[in-house]
Amino acid sequence: MKILVINGPNLNMLGIREPDVYGKQDFRTLEKFIKSSASELGHSVTLFQSNHEGEIVDVIQSAYGVFEGIVINPAAYTHTSVAILDALKAVAIPTVEVHLSDVNSREEFRRFSYVSLVAEKTICGLGFEGYKKALEYFANK
Ligand code: DQA
Repeated sequence: MKILVINGPNLNMLGIREPDVYGKQDFRTLEKFIKSSASELGHSVTLFQSNHEGEIVDVIQSAYGVFEGIVINPAAYTHTSVAILDALKAVAIPTVEVHLSDVNSREEFRRFSYVSLVAEKTICGLGFEGYKKALEYFANK
């Protein structure tokens, strides 16, 4: 399948950013992990990371008619962005939401996710492995 993997703000700071929460491995290592997981499963993946909400909306819109699945870690926009929710609804591409940390066992404000309202599945607290599980979900669909 053709899958678009979107990572939101501050995920490019992995390795430096709160290593006790997000681990010591850097973003480049995450990207390599996603690419090798995808090729094991026979998916073709395109990776996109942005710190800007509008750019994420743009890439979701441009996925229409091009990608068959979206894996998204919207990072902080998970908890705030109606615009990302609406873009995912607009394109109606099957979506899996991923979080590295267990958002349900952290601060109260991380428990609500706009993207969960549209995602077919949400995976959290599994670190890098969560992205592989999301790709497996599409392989087994
Ligand atoms: C995150 C969890 C979010 O609450 C946070 O804002 C992030 C990363 C995660 O992967 O665990 O930036 O999406």
